[in-house]
Amino acid sequence: MIKCQVIGDPVRHSLSPYLHNAVYKQLGIDDKYVFDAVRVSPSELANYLARSRGGIVRGISVTVPHKVGVLQHLDEIDPLAQRIGAVNTIVNENNALIGYNTDTVGIITPLKQRLGSLRGKTALVLGAGGAARAAAFSLPDEGVTVHIANRTAERAESLAAEADAHSHSLDELDQLDFDILFNATSVGMQDDATLVPKQVLKSDHLVFEAVYKTTETTLLKDAKAAGATTISGLEMLAHQAVGQIKLYTGYDIGADFVLEILKAKHE
Ligand code: ATR
Repeated sequence: MIKCQVIGDPVRHSLSPYLHNAVYKQLGIDDKYVFDAVRVSPSELANYLARSRGGIVRGISVTVPHKVGVLQHLDEIDPLAQRIGAVNTIVNENNALIGYNTDTVGIITPLKQRLGSLRGKTALVLGAGGAARAAAFSLPDEGVTVHIANRTAERAESLAAEADAHSHSLDELDQLDFDILFNATSVGMQDDATLVPKQVLKSDHLVFEAVYKTTETTLLKDAKAAGATTISGLEMLAHQAVGQIKLYTGYDIGADFVLEILKAKHE
């Protein structure tokens, strides 16, 4: 059996095992491939990766809080992931661990589906971790001006300096003008918390949540109530999963197919 895994802490909420196993079944390769979730704490990360290198693990999907931390343990890093400084996908190629980033596709594709070209737009990115880094580096490539706000101000400042973006504190959100709001923090994943005061949200905003949960996050509920267009974390999950499935199995499948599998689970 070829094993693929998602690692994170927490990881219990992850839909990746359901999603990848359902895809293996549809592709008729579930007799060869199996996908499971492994809770790995930051202090266990180095050991986990060392064990995986010599084992039967083919692919590792990386989630909070390891997208930046894994880089130092890998044997090779794809140029895009290197530039972003975050890895969400690891492939074990003959006992060498190679890091990739498929989050950028997961962010840019749903935005383009709504807006067409992103050129000239302004985005506010909340967070400074792995998902925020993917947004902060890929959005300017599409002609988007990026503002970053994060709880820990120094992290926002250093990411903004690296990515040629502007940094702000979370209390300045009501003073910012933007077209796209991308929440790349884990806030809202496990409870009803939100970083965005309701009065900040406007009907001409496009609000994109990187995280997903069974019920709608407070941010997306508030955005809908303000008349804004919303994108749930399921779309990012689907689009980034397409790249992972190609890297792990060689099969190139459509994002719509993956999204249908995810929606079926949520209904
Ligand atoms: P990943 O690399 O997978 O994106 P991460 O590096 O842990 O995960 O990033 C999580 C993001 O959520 C960070 O921007 C974090 O803010 P800090 O840099 O201040 O830690 C943000 N975050 C998590 N919990 C938060 C909370 N309760 N309030 C505000 N921001 C929070």
